[in-house]
Amino acid sequence: MATHRTFTMLKPDAVEKGHIGAILEKISASGFKIVAMKLTQMTQADAETFYAIHKERPFFPELVTYMTRGPIVAAILEKENAVADFRTLIGATNPADAADGTIRKLYAASISENAVHGSDSDENAAIEGAFHFSGREQF
Ligand code: CMP
Repeated sequence: MATHRTFTMLKPDAVEKGHIGAILEKISASGFKIVAMKLTQMTQADAETFYAIHKERPFFPELVTYMTRGPIVAAILEKENAVADFRTLIGATNPADAADGTIRKLYAASISENAVHGSDSDENAAIEGAFHFSGREQF
């Protein structure tokens, strides 16, 4: 089976709480290869663009404030069936609904501050990865 790529962010709450190492360890132990990674911070314009699909949702202003309040870890991950397997690993959007052992069950506080992002399709993984990384930052 061909390998595929997905895009992730360890969100500001996860970084603030010192969970970068534990989450990256879980990602690696689950068979994902890190092919791009950086500590960075989104500007308001970055977050508004990245989350444009949620523009009309009532939580959009809160989402932009949250995602810009501190550094994130952005990464591109490679594995067979990367998009679906990574969404299984992170668990449901709302940590209250997330399965035991998932990253959100372990590290997320709420539906709004849910520790980690995972792309929802191969197409969006490519778009989101290109949003954060130039070609020569991807290996
Ligand atoms: P994610 O699924 O990675 O991308 C959209 C984000 O919006 C989501 O994670 C949460 O951080 C946030 N979000 C989704 N639903 C809600 C909600 N009902 N209330 C507040 N924030 C939300």
